Amino acid sequence: MGYILSVISVENINFGEAIASPKKVIVKQHNLMKDKSITKQSQEFNEQHILSHGNENESIEETIERVKQRIIKTGDKPHVTVARQLEFLNELAGFPLGQFLLQNGGLNGYWTDYVVEHQFQGRITGIDAEGRSLTELEKFLLDKNSFPTQQRYVNFGKAIQNCVQEDIVFASLPCGVMRDLLKLDFTGVENFRLVGIDIDYESLELAKKLAEEYDLSEKVEFHQEDAWNLPFEDEFTLLTSNGLNVYEPDDEKVTELYRQFFKALMPGGILVTSFLTPSPNIDPNSEWDMSQINSEDLLLSKIIFFDILNVKFTAFRSSSTTKLQLQTVGFDEIEFIWDNARIYPTVTARKPK
Ligand SMILES: C[S@@+](CC[C@H](N)C(=O)[O-])C[C@H]1O[C@@H](n2cnc3c(N)ncnc32)[C@H](O)[C@@H]1O
Repeated sequence: MGYILSVISVENINFGEAIASPKKVIVKQHNLMKDKSITKQSQEFNEQHILSHGNENESIEETIERVKQRIIKTGDKPHVTVARQLEFLNELAGFPLGQFLLQNGGLNGYWTDYVVEHQFQGRITGIDAEGRSLTELEKFLLDKNSFPTQQRYVNFGKAIQNCVQEDIVFASLPCGVMRDLLKLDFTGVENFRLVGIDIDYESLELAKKLAEEYDLSEKVEFHQEDAWNLPFEDEFTLLTSNGLNVYEPDDEKVTELYRQFFKALMPGGILVTSFLTPSPNIDPNSEWDMSQINSEDLLLSKIIFFDILNVKFTAFRSSSTTKLQLQTVGFDEIEFIWDNARIYPTVTARKPK
Protein backbone atom coordinates (compact mmCIF):
# COMPACT_ATOMS: atom_id res chain seq x y z
CA MET A 1 0.00 0.00 0.00
CA GLY A 2 2.39 2.60 -1.08
CA TYR A 3 -0.60 3.87 -3.04
CA ILE A 4 -0.85 6.09 -0.08
CA LEU A 5 0.17 9.52 0.70
CA SER A 6 3.20 9.77 -1.32
CA VAL A 7 4.70 9.33 -4.63
CA ILE A 8 8.14 8.97 -5.99
CA SER A 9 9.16 10.03 -9.42
CA VAL A 10 9.40 7.16 -11.84
CA GLU A 11 12.91 7.98 -13.03
CA ASN A 12 14.38 7.51 -9.56
CA ILE A 13 13.34 3.95 -9.14
CA ASN A 14 15.27 0.86 -9.91
CA PHE A 15 12.93 -2.07 -9.64
CA GLY A 16 15.47 -4.82 -9.56
CA GLU A 17 14.36 -8.07 -11.02
CA ALA A 18 10.84 -9.32 -10.87
CA ILE A 19 10.36 -12.57 -9.09
CA ALA A 20 9.80 -15.68 -11.14
CA SER A 21 6.86 -15.32 -13.45
CA PRO A 22 6.34 -18.65 -15.18
CA LYS A 23 3.45 -17.48 -17.33
CA LYS A 24 0.99 -14.67 -17.54
CA VAL A 25 -1.79 -15.43 -15.13
CA ILE A 26 -4.83 -13.25 -14.84
CA VAL A 27 -7.55 -13.93 -12.37
CA LYS A 28 -10.91 -12.54 -13.25
CA GLN A 29 -12.62 -11.45 -10.14
CA HIS A 30 -16.07 -11.03 -11.48
CA ASN A 31 -16.64 -14.55 -12.82
CA LEU A 32 -15.62 -16.01 -9.51
CA MET A 33 -17.73 -13.58 -7.59
CA LYS A 34 -20.81 -15.03 -9.27
CA ASP A 35 -19.84 -18.48 -8.03
CA LYS A 36 -20.48 -17.66 -4.41
CA SER A 37 -21.31 -20.50 -2.11
CA ILE A 38 -20.35 -18.61 1.01
CA THR A 39 -22.46 -19.52 3.99
CA LYS A 40 -24.50 -16.95 5.82
CA GLN A 41 -22.55 -17.66 8.96
CA SER A 42 -19.13 -17.06 7.41
CA GLN A 43 -20.44 -13.99 5.60
CA GLU A 44 -21.46 -12.45 8.91
CA PHE A 45 -18.14 -13.49 10.43
CA ASN A 46 -16.36 -11.77 7.54
CA GLU A 47 -18.27 -8.56 7.84
CA GLN A 48 -17.40 -8.23 11.50
CA HIS A 49 -13.67 -8.83 11.15
CA ILE A 50 -12.50 -7.67 7.71
CA LEU A 51 -10.37 -4.59 8.29
CA SER A 52 -9.43 -3.75 4.73
CA HIS A 53 -12.66 -3.56 2.76
CA GLY A 54 -16.36 -4.33 2.70
CA ASN A 55 -18.87 -1.55 2.42
CA GLU A 56 -20.63 -2.78 -0.63
CA ASN A 57 -24.16 -2.63 0.66
CA GLU A 58 -24.23 0.87 -0.74
CA SER A 59 -24.58 1.30 -4.54
CA ILE A 60 -21.80 3.21 -6.30
CA GLU A 61 -24.28 6.04 -6.98
CA GLU A 62 -25.09 6.28 -3.27
CA THR A 63 -21.38 6.27 -2.41
CA ILE A 64 -20.63 9.05 -4.88
CA GLU A 65 -23.50 11.13 -3.52
CA ARG A 66 -22.37 10.56 0.08
CA VAL A 67 -18.76 11.56 -0.68
CA LYS A 68 -19.96 14.55 -2.70
CA GLN A 69 -22.06 15.82 0.19
CA ARG A 70 -19.15 15.38 2.62
CA ILE A 71 -16.82 17.38 0.33
CA ILE A 72 -19.37 20.17 -0.08
CA LYS A 73 -20.10 20.29 3.64
CA THR A 74 -16.39 20.54 4.52
CA GLY A 75 -15.93 23.38 2.03
CA ASP A 76 -12.82 24.73 0.29
CA LYS A 77 -9.51 23.82 1.93
CA PRO A 78 -6.29 25.85 1.74
CA HIS A 79 -4.74 23.29 -0.61
CA VAL A 80 -7.79 22.30 -2.69
CA THR A 81 -11.19 23.71 -3.60
CA VAL A 82 -14.51 21.90 -3.46
CA ALA A 83 -14.82 22.20 -7.24
CA ARG A 84 -11.46 20.49 -7.83
CA GLN A 85 -12.30 17.69 -5.39
CA LEU A 86 -15.60 17.09 -7.18
CA GLU A 87 -13.73 16.81 -10.47
CA PHE A 88 -11.45 14.19 -8.93
CA LEU A 89 -14.45 12.37 -7.46
CA ASN A 90 -15.96 12.20 -10.91
CA GLU A 91 -12.70 10.86 -12.34
CA LEU A 92 -12.36 8.23 -9.60
CA ALA A 93 -15.88 7.03 -10.29
CA GLY A 94 -14.86 6.46 -13.93
CA PHE A 95 -12.65 3.39 -13.47
CA PRO A 96 -13.02 0.12 -11.50
CA LEU A 97 -10.12 0.64 -9.06
CA GLY A 98 -11.38 4.14 -8.27
CA GLN A 99 -14.88 2.81 -7.66
CA PHE A 100 -13.59 0.07 -5.36
CA LEU A 101 -11.56 2.56 -3.33
CA LEU A 102 -14.52 4.93 -3.09
CA GLN A 103 -16.76 2.18 -1.79
CA ASN A 104 -14.28 0.45 0.51
CA GLY A 105 -11.56 2.90 1.55
CA GLY A 106 -9.09 0.03 1.26
CA LEU A 107 -8.14 -2.91 -0.94
CA ASN A 108 -9.09 -6.58 -1.00
CA GLY A 109 -6.85 -9.34 -2.32
CA TYR A 110 -7.88 -8.87 -5.96
CA TRP A 111 -7.18 -5.14 -6.09
CA THR A 112 -3.94 -5.42 -4.13
CA ASP A 113 -2.72 -7.91 -6.71
CA TYR A 114 -3.87 -5.57 -9.50
CA VAL A 115 -1.87 -2.70 -8.00
CA VAL A 116 1.38 -4.57 -7.36
CA GLU A 117 1.36 -6.56 -10.61
CA HIS A 118 0.69 -3.40 -12.63
CA GLN A 119 4.45 -2.75 -12.79
CA PHE A 120 4.94 -5.82 -14.99
CA GLN A 121 2.01 -5.33 -17.39
CA GLY A 122 -0.15 -2.20 -17.28
CA ARG A 123 2.72 0.22 -16.81
CA ILE A 124 4.21 -0.98 -20.06
CA THR A 125 1.03 -1.33 -22.11
CA GLY A 126 -1.14 1.47 -20.63
CA ILE A 127 -4.12 -0.89 -20.71
CA ASP A 128 -5.69 -3.11 -18.09
CA ALA A 129 -6.26 -6.88 -18.26
CA GLU A 130 -9.58 -6.31 -20.04
CA GLY A 131 -7.95 -4.18 -22.74
CA ARG A 132 -9.31 -0.87 -21.42
CA SER A 133 -7.03 2.18 -21.68
CA LEU A 134 -6.05 3.53 -18.29
CA THR A 135 -7.20 7.05 -17.47
CA GLU A 136 -4.69 9.73 -16.45
CA LEU A 137 -5.71 9.59 -12.80
CA GLU A 138 -5.56 5.79 -12.84
CA LYS A 139 -2.05 5.96 -14.32
CA PHE A 140 -1.07 8.40 -11.60
CA LEU A 141 -2.33 6.05 -8.90
CA LEU A 142 -0.75 2.96 -10.43
CA ASP A 143 2.45 4.29 -11.98
CA LYS A 144 3.52 6.84 -9.42
CA ASN A 145 1.63 6.56 -6.20
CA SER A 146 1.95 2.78 -6.00
CA PHE A 147 5.73 2.72 -6.34
CA PRO A 148 6.48 2.04 -2.68
CA THR A 149 4.18 -0.98 -2.53
CA GLN A 150 5.36 -2.23 -5.90
CA GLN A 151 8.95 -2.05 -4.66
CA ARG A 152 7.84 -3.70 -1.45
CA TYR A 153 6.33 -6.53 -3.50
CA VAL A 154 9.63 -7.09 -5.33
CA ASN A 155 11.53 -6.97 -2.01
CA PHE A 156 9.16 -9.55 -0.52
CA GLY A 157 9.67 -11.76 -3.57
CA LYS A 158 13.44 -11.75 -3.21
CA ALA A 159 13.37 -12.32 0.57
CA ILE A 160 10.91 -15.22 0.26
CA GLN A 161 12.65 -16.75 -2.76
CA ASN A 162 15.90 -16.92 -0.74
CA CYS A 163 14.18 -19.29 1.68
CA VAL A 164 12.88 -21.73 -0.94
CA GLN A 165 14.36 -25.19 -0.36
CA GLU A 166 13.26 -28.79 0.22
CA ASP A 167 10.69 -29.50 2.97
CA ILE A 168 9.38 -25.96 3.44
CA VAL A 169 5.90 -24.93 4.57
CA PHE A 170 5.25 -21.32 3.56
CA ALA A 171 2.16 -19.45 4.74
CA SER A 172 0.70 -16.17 3.51
CA LEU A 173 -1.55 -14.30 5.92
CA PRO A 174 -3.63 -12.46 4.82
CA CYS A 175 -3.03 -14.26 1.54
CA GLY A 176 -5.36 -12.28 -0.73
CA VAL A 177 -4.89 -14.07 -4.07
CA MET A 178 -1.57 -15.45 -2.71
CA ARG A 179 0.54 -14.56 -5.73
CA ASP A 180 3.40 -13.71 -3.33
CA LEU A 181 3.91 -17.46 -2.85
CA LEU A 182 2.45 -18.85 -6.06
CA LYS A 183 4.83 -16.94 -8.32
CA LEU A 184 7.99 -18.16 -6.57
CA ASP A 185 10.41 -20.33 -8.52
CA PHE A 186 10.24 -23.86 -7.11
CA THR A 187 12.44 -25.41 -9.80
CA GLY A 188 14.19 -28.48 -8.39
CA VAL A 189 12.23 -28.45 -5.14
CA GLU A 190 10.00 -31.50 -4.69
CA ASN A 191 8.62 -31.34 -1.22
CA PHE A 192 6.92 -28.09 -0.27
CA ARG A 193 3.54 -26.84 0.90
CA LEU A 194 1.90 -23.43 0.55
CA VAL A 195 -0.79 -22.33 2.99
CA GLY A 196 -3.10 -19.42 2.28
CA ILE A 197 -5.01 -17.85 5.17
CA ASP A 198 -7.48 -15.01 4.81
CA ILE A 199 -10.75 -14.02 6.37
CA ASP A 200 -12.29 -13.23 3.00
CA TYR A 201 -13.91 -16.15 1.21
CA GLU A 202 -13.76 -14.38 -2.15
CA SER A 203 -9.99 -13.89 -1.90
CA LEU A 204 -9.53 -17.53 -0.99
CA GLU A 205 -11.56 -18.60 -4.04
CA LEU A 206 -9.39 -16.39 -6.26
CA ALA A 207 -6.24 -17.79 -4.65
CA LYS A 208 -7.45 -21.34 -5.32
CA LYS A 209 -8.07 -20.47 -8.95
CA LEU A 210 -4.67 -18.81 -9.27
CA ALA A 211 -2.99 -21.89 -7.74
CA GLU A 212 -4.61 -23.95 -10.53
CA GLU A 213 -3.27 -21.54 -13.14
CA TYR A 214 0.24 -21.84 -11.70
CA ASP A 215 -0.14 -25.66 -11.64
CA LEU A 216 0.29 -25.71 -7.88
CA SER A 217 -3.11 -27.04 -6.76
CA GLU A 218 -1.48 -30.14 -5.30
CA LYS A 219 0.77 -28.04 -3.12
CA VAL A 220 -1.69 -25.57 -1.60
CA GLU A 221 -4.22 -25.48 1.18
CA PHE A 222 -6.46 -22.65 2.30
CA HIS A 223 -8.00 -21.59 5.60
CA GLN A 224 -10.62 -18.95 6.28
CA GLU A 225 -9.48 -17.46 9.58
CA ASP A 226 -9.33 -14.18 11.46
CA ALA A 227 -5.63 -13.29 11.73
CA TRP A 228 -6.07 -12.48 15.43
CA ASN A 229 -7.47 -15.89 16.23
CA LEU A 230 -5.33 -18.50 14.53
CA PRO A 231 -5.38 -22.24 15.18
CA PHE A 232 -1.73 -22.74 14.07
CA GLU A 233 1.20 -23.57 16.33
CA ASP A 234 4.80 -24.34 15.25
CA GLU A 235 3.63 -25.09 11.70
CA PHE A 236 5.33 -22.85 9.16
CA THR A 237 8.94 -22.43 8.09
CA LEU A 238 8.09 -18.98 6.72
CA LEU A 239 5.13 -16.67 7.10
CA THR A 240 4.56 -13.67 4.89
CA SER A 241 2.14 -10.89 5.80
CA ASN A 242 1.43 -7.74 3.86
CA GLY A 243 -1.38 -5.24 4.07
CA LEU A 244 -3.10 -5.99 7.37
CA ASN A 245 -1.21 -4.10 10.11
CA VAL A 246 -1.65 -0.89 8.09
CA TYR A 247 -5.41 -1.06 8.80
CA GLU A 248 -4.99 -1.48 12.58
CA PRO A 249 -4.29 1.77 14.46
CA ASP A 250 -3.94 0.11 17.88
CA ASP A 251 -0.28 -0.76 18.56
CA GLU A 252 -1.26 -3.38 21.13
CA LYS A 253 -3.41 -5.17 18.59
CA VAL A 254 -0.58 -5.19 16.06
CA THR A 255 1.76 -6.62 18.70
CA GLU A 256 -0.89 -9.29 19.30
CA LEU A 257 -0.97 -9.98 15.55
CA TYR A 258 2.82 -10.49 15.60
CA ARG A 259 2.34 -12.82 18.59
CA GLN A 260 -0.04 -14.91 16.47
CA PHE A 261 2.57 -15.03 13.69
CA PHE A 262 5.27 -16.04 16.19
CA LYS A 263 3.14 -18.85 17.53
CA ALA A 264 2.30 -20.13 14.04
CA LEU A 265 5.97 -20.31 12.96
CA MET A 266 8.21 -23.29 13.69
CA PRO A 267 11.28 -22.60 15.83
CA GLY A 268 13.80 -21.09 13.40
CA GLY A 269 10.93 -19.93 11.15
CA ILE A 270 11.09 -16.62 9.29
CA LEU A 271 8.55 -13.80 9.22
CA VAL A 272 8.47 -11.50 6.19
CA THR A 273 6.20 -8.55 6.79
CA SER A 274 5.84 -4.84 5.99
CA PHE A 275 4.63 -1.60 7.53
CA LEU A 276 3.93 1.98 6.51
CA THR A 277 6.14 4.70 7.99
CA PRO A 278 4.65 8.09 8.96
CA SER A 279 5.18 11.15 6.76
CA PRO A 280 7.06 14.24 8.02
CA ASN A 281 3.66 15.95 8.46
CA ILE A 282 2.70 13.39 11.07
CA ASP A 283 6.08 12.67 12.63
CA PRO A 284 9.02 15.10 12.74
CA ASN A 285 11.32 12.06 12.95
CA SER A 286 9.82 10.60 9.78
CA GLU A 287 12.03 8.11 7.99
CA TRP A 288 10.86 9.18 4.52
CA ASP A 289 13.58 10.13 2.04
CA MET A 290 12.13 13.36 0.67
CA SER A 291 14.73 13.52 -2.10
CA GLN A 292 12.82 10.61 -3.66
CA ILE A 293 9.42 12.26 -3.39
CA ASN A 294 7.92 14.76 -5.83
CA SER A 295 6.03 17.41 -3.84
CA GLU A 296 3.29 17.96 -6.46
CA ASP A 297 2.61 14.26 -6.64
CA LEU A 298 2.58 14.11 -2.86
CA LEU A 299 -0.06 16.84 -2.69
CA LEU A 300 -2.20 15.08 -5.30
CA SER A 301 -1.96 11.83 -3.32
CA LYS A 302 -3.00 13.61 -0.16
CA ILE A 303 -6.07 15.08 -1.89
CA ILE A 304 -7.10 11.77 -3.43
CA PHE A 305 -6.46 9.48 -0.46
CA PHE A 306 -7.33 11.70 2.47
CA ASP A 307 -9.62 14.49 1.32
CA ILE A 308 -11.68 12.42 -1.10
CA LEU A 309 -11.29 8.70 -0.35
CA ASN A 310 -10.75 9.00 3.40
CA VAL A 311 -8.87 5.69 3.29
CA LYS A 312 -8.56 3.23 6.16
CA PHE A 313 -4.90 2.20 5.74
CA THR A 314 -3.54 4.95 7.91
CA ALA A 315 -1.84 3.01 10.70
CA PHE A 316 1.74 4.24 10.32
CA ARG A 317 4.64 2.97 12.42
CA SER A 318 8.33 3.73 12.56
CA SER A 319 10.98 1.04 12.16
CA SER A 320 11.87 1.40 15.86
CA THR A 321 8.24 0.81 16.96
CA THR A 322 8.01 -2.18 14.63
CA LYS A 323 11.31 -3.62 15.88
CA LEU A 324 10.16 -3.27 19.47
CA GLN A 325 6.81 -4.93 18.68
CA LEU A 326 8.58 -7.88 17.05
CA GLN A 327 11.10 -8.20 19.89
CA THR A 328 8.32 -8.04 22.48
CA VAL A 329 6.75 -11.22 21.14
CA GLY A 330 10.10 -13.03 20.88
CA PHE A 331 11.50 -12.48 17.36
CA ASP A 332 15.22 -11.95 16.81
CA GLU A 333 17.47 -11.29 13.78
CA ILE A 334 15.22 -8.39 12.78
CA GLU A 335 16.30 -6.79 9.51
CA PHE A 336 14.79 -4.06 7.34
CA ILE A 337 14.71 -3.88 3.57
CA TRP A 338 13.83 -0.34 2.49
CA ASP A 339 12.04 0.94 -0.57
CA ASN A 340 13.70 3.99 -2.15
CA ALA A 341 11.42 6.53 -0.50
CA ARG A 342 11.46 4.64 2.84
CA ILE A 343 7.67 4.65 2.94
CA TYR A 344 6.80 0.95 2.82
CA PRO A 345 9.65 -1.12 4.29
CA THR A 346 9.88 -4.87 4.42
CA VAL A 347 11.04 -6.46 7.66
CA THR A 348 12.30 -9.99 8.20
CA ALA A 349 12.57 -11.61 11.62
CA ARG A 350 13.33 -15.07 13.03
CA LYS A 351 11.63 -17.15 15.68
CA PRO A 352 14.59 -18.44 17.75
CA LYS A 353 15.33 -22.19 17.58
C1 LIG B 1 -4.60 -5.19 1.30
S1 LIG B 1 -5.10 -6.85 1.16
C2 LIG B 1 -3.54 -7.69 1.15
C3 LIG B 1 -3.61 -9.07 0.58
C4 LIG B 1 -2.24 -9.76 0.36
N1 LIG B 1 -1.49 -9.89 1.59
C5 LIG B 1 -1.43 -9.00 -0.67
O1 LIG B 1 -0.45 -8.35 -0.31
O2 LIG B 1 -1.81 -9.09 -1.85
C6 LIG B 1 -5.73 -7.12 2.78
C7 LIG B 1 -6.20 -8.54 3.01
O3 LIG B 1 -6.48 -8.70 4.41
C8 LIG B 1 -7.59 -9.55 4.54
N2 LIG B 1 -8.13 -9.33 5.90
C9 LIG B 1 -8.76 -8.24 6.37
N3 LIG B 1 -9.07 -8.38 7.67
C10 LIG B 1 -8.61 -9.62 8.04
C11 LIG B 1 -8.61 -10.36 9.25
N4 LIG B 1 -9.16 -9.87 10.37
N5 LIG B 1 -8.04 -11.59 9.26
C12 LIG B 1 -7.48 -12.12 8.13
N6 LIG B 1 -7.45 -11.46 6.95
C13 LIG B 1 -8.00 -10.23 6.90
C14 LIG B 1 -8.49 -9.12 3.40
O4 LIG B 1 -9.47 -10.07 3.10
C15 LIG B 1 -7.47 -8.92 2.28
O5 LIG B 1 -7.25 -10.11 1.55
